[in-house]
Amino acid sequence: MKINQTPYRTIWIKSGNPRIIQIIDQRFLPHEFVIEEIHSLDEMIVAIRDMHLRGAPLIGVAAAYGMYLAALEASKENNFEASFQEAARKLKAARPTAVNLEWAIHQQQEAALKGKSAEEKIRLTFETAGRLADADVENCRRMGEFALPLFEEIAKRKPGKAVNVLTHCNAGWLACVDWGTATSAIYQAHDRGIPVHVWVDETRPRNQGSQLTAWELGQHGVPHTIIVDNAGGHLMQHAKVDLVIVGTDRTTRSGDVANKIGTYLKALAAFDNRIPFYAAVPSSSIDWNLKDGIREIPIEERSPDEVRFIEGFADGKRLRVLSAPEKSPASNYGFDVTPARLITGLITERGICFPNEQSLSCLFPEKS
Ligand code: MRU
Repeated sequence: MKINQTPYRTIWIKSGNPRIIQIIDQRFLPHEFVIEEIHSLDEMIVAIRDMHLRGAPLIGVAAAYGMYLAALEASKENNFEASFQEAARKLKAARPTAVNLEWAIHQQQEAALKGKSAEEKIRLTFETAGRLADADVENCRRMGEFALPLFEEIAKRKPGKAVNVLTHCNAGWLACVDWGTATSAIYQAHDRGIPVHVWVDETRPRNQGSQLTAWELGQHGVPHTIIVDNAGGHLMQHAKVDLVIVGTDRTTRSGDVANKIGTYLKALAAFDNRIPFYAAVPSSSIDWNLKDGIREIPIEERSPDEVRFIEGFADGKRLRVLSAPEKSPASNYGFDVTPARLITGLITERGICFPNEQSLSCLFPEKS
């Protein structure tokens, strides 16, 4: 997508130096556009853990580049295999919920196995990371194409009026390599002249909605309004939401969807108001080993300080202020699970399906 008319991805190899990975450092958005250079596996782990980059598909691709950096580092050690496997173990611990992380690490372990020398393993992991990045772009584009008719049908029912879509967190291009999962159809509908308006959940505590989704929609010229996380139900009761689309960090084979904390409450409100609720689910976010999302998906707990403090920019500086009583404890669950029964459909790169094992297996027969 474009930033001030210049096309960007969220992660790429530095031109002229393939040992350096560059990313958009999302901690500074929307106020500053900062590019960070990543030189080592440890720097990539910090970038993922401390959310310089975030969003399940991007975490996956960043992990793939992390394993490429790990291969470069392992080639200087006596025991390549031991060093590479230790890197995988460390990287997997960076963030627990998005299954894309372990999925990408696994792809890189398989790729490295095919190399006979350290040089070959480096080449193979480099190529695999690039391939996963390109595949993510194509998958997001395709998910948007498959979801576009949802917008076309609503637009037909209310000629001249905007299709109001509500989204939670940032499942936009900043959370992927390009396009986004939940936002892909929004961009494609907007580009084809369908009037679209997006209700952007603020998404406390880290404000991925108000800081990232609002920024990227604004860059693309898509009309949007930021709302507090608790406003969605009210808007739905008053027919101001036509459609909800969210992303996912891990979806079970039975169609339970883990996504940013608060997604479940949006699904309940949508269900109560008979509003279609879709999750955009690239296959890299499906955990085929899990069936019961509520019991089985690991939910990340982050620092309580993300809840107790509020961050923002003033006078060109990032500020962090305490908003809660100094001694009150806080808890910070990063994700929740929306059970399949509340979900209208899953948007995948192979089409839209019902949120159940049979329907998912029809689209991905090789996994069943
Ligand atoms: O904690 P984050 O910002 O990594 O959480 C991101 C989300 O919950 C997204 O909705 C999800 O990763 C899907 S991104 C296409």
